[in-house]
Amino acid sequence: MCGIVGYVGPRDCTDVLVSALTKLEYRGYDSAGIAVFENGRIEVAKTKGRLADLTQKMEKEGKPKGHAGIGHTRWATHGEPSDVNSHPHSGRRVTIVHNGIIENYKQLKQFLIENDRNEFLSDTDTEVVAQLLDFYYDGDPIRCIRKTLHELRGSFALGIIFADRPETVYAVRCESPLIVGQGQDEVFIASDVPAIIKYTKNYYLLEQGEIAILKDGSAEFRSLHGRPLKKELLFADWDEDSAEKGGYPHYMLKEIHEQPTAVKTTITPRIEDGLPNLSECGIIFGTLRNLKNIFIVACGTAMHAGMVGKYVIEKLARVSVTVDIASEFRYRDPLLTHDDLIIIISQSGETADSKAVLSLAKSRGAKTLAIVNVKGSSIAREADMVIYTHAGPEIAVASTKAYMVQLAVMYLFAFETALAKGKLEEKECRRLTAALLKMPDVIEKTINKVVDMCQYVSTKLITADSLLYIGRGLDYALSMEGSLKLKEISYIHSESYAAGELKHGTISLITEGMPVIAVATQNTLLEKTVSNIKEVKARGAMTIVICDEEADIDADAVDYMIRIPKINETLMPMVATVPMQLLAYYTSVNKGNDVDKPRNLAKSVTVE
Ligand code: F6R
Repeated sequence: MCGIVGYVGPRDCTDVLVSALTKLEYRGYDSAGIAVFENGRIEVAKTKGRLADLTQKMEKEGKPKGHAGIGHTRWATHGEPSDVNSHPHSGRRVTIVHNGIIENYKQLKQFLIENDRNEFLSDTDTEVVAQLLDFYYDGDPIRCIRKTLHELRGSFALGIIFADRPETVYAVRCESPLIVGQGQDEVFIASDVPAIIKYTKNYYLLEQGEIAILKDGSAEFRSLHGRPLKKELLFADWDEDSAEKGGYPHYMLKEIHEQPTAVKTTITPRIEDGLPNLSECGIIFGTLRNLKNIFIVACGTAMHAGMVGKYVIEKLARVSVTVDIASEFRYRDPLLTHDDLIIIISQSGETADSKAVLSLAKSRGAKTLAIVNVKGSSIAREADMVIYTHAGPEIAVASTKAYMVQLAVMYLFAFETALAKGKLEEKECRRLTAALLKMPDVIEKTINKVVDMCQYVSTKLITADSLLYIGRGLDYALSMEGSLKLKEISYIHSESYAAGELKHGTISLITEGMPVIAVATQNTLLEKTVSNIKEVKARGAMTIVICDEEADIDADAVDYMIRIPKINETLMPMVATVPMQLLAYYTSVNKGNDVDKPRNLAKSVTVE
């Protein structure tokens, strides 16, 4: 998704904007630009390509010099990536940067044309907003922004400057996230906290329809109705290092290595006297006891964490769990009642489809629980109950540590629900909780144990056109994530299949040398999975098996075996996910891909 930044303060504005934008690169982008007040005039520099291209262009053509301005990285939605479609966009007196989508831009463009405003240079919806602001501008920026907001439909955040208001930046948020950072005599706007963390850890979170005015190094706020607002100053408890690569070649590898700490920080405060306790998240034992149906709804990796959650909750708590993709669930008129619990899982807390499901569930009177990583995000604020995962900022587009802590929370939730429903003896619950507490050490041990083997096996995958992941039960749920991880960063087609389903069609795809990655960590299903491994091996597949140290698997059926520590079978997904992450990572590295910013993808999908 696009990234927005803005600055007003004593530093060189262009340097600040470019530096802040580099911290938003993880969101994915195809062009970049800035607009800065230089001696009272707005100077724009923008280009298709990376921030390095923008810097190069400014070195050649002149770098805007000033102390107030706005900047943008664009991920094309309306109009191809090009210099002219890059942000900022301008009307006669207004220049803006924009994140999100304006759904009714065509009607608005028509309205402007009918009113003698046919000055469009680009194909973007953003330029329509710039022209509309200009159309309504009568010298009062707040009145003009409010009037414009009234006309816009969609989800968006805007950074705005007016030619006759030098050294001042305006910002507004409608759905798409936007924060205002407050430093010593300087003030910032950004789509996400890592952009400003180098300069300040203090920030305000703009809410729906709120307007910020950045001037003379500080910020004022107005409501959608123009009333002055007092806002709470928040503190980002990350250091700059935790939003940087810290010596690793890629964020993804750094984040894989951060998993033990992330899990520890997430679970330790929620375990009391050897048992899970989620009461600080608003989760009451009585509510869990009376639960009839649980729906877990999310997108992508977060949905895959929900798949593992389903197996574990149903197994331990004996309550029915339906897992669904948010973009499907929201449009299928789901059957929800007051007795149902909807769990929304989201790293960013801003995913458009997941947000829509939350609103839908609330409107139907169901109880809502959010499992979210980003503090104060929309989903976290709107849900009845929230369990924050404490993974810290996740920068790589491919999610690793956020998935791992989502799994950890699924276990805590399953244990407590099972206890509340009387389906798990306290003694057994203590045993499982103790095993969960050991996971940070086990994950660390697993990373060290499998890293070399994964690096080696990945060299066997890079020439593949297509591959399969297979597994049964929890291993199947897990292989969905393994497959997504591999395809999104290596660009090799891959599918996950329930191992027992292969014979019903898919096995015809197996040809000589086709890689099949089998996850076989569930002892109760091991024999059956081994039969499936043999079936594909007999048809020429190159088999890679992820299993525990003690699993007894016929060596003839396996080309490459990745052995992981053996722990309680129910908790194996938290271990088995590690080699899958590393296989995906090294395959992408070996193919020379942009690991942290895979093509066509964005970190936070704030539009439908
Ligand atoms: C894949 C990945 C995505 C996200 C999905 C939901 O590695 O990260 O599939 O899981 O876009 O995002 P959140 O969790 O922010 O709602």
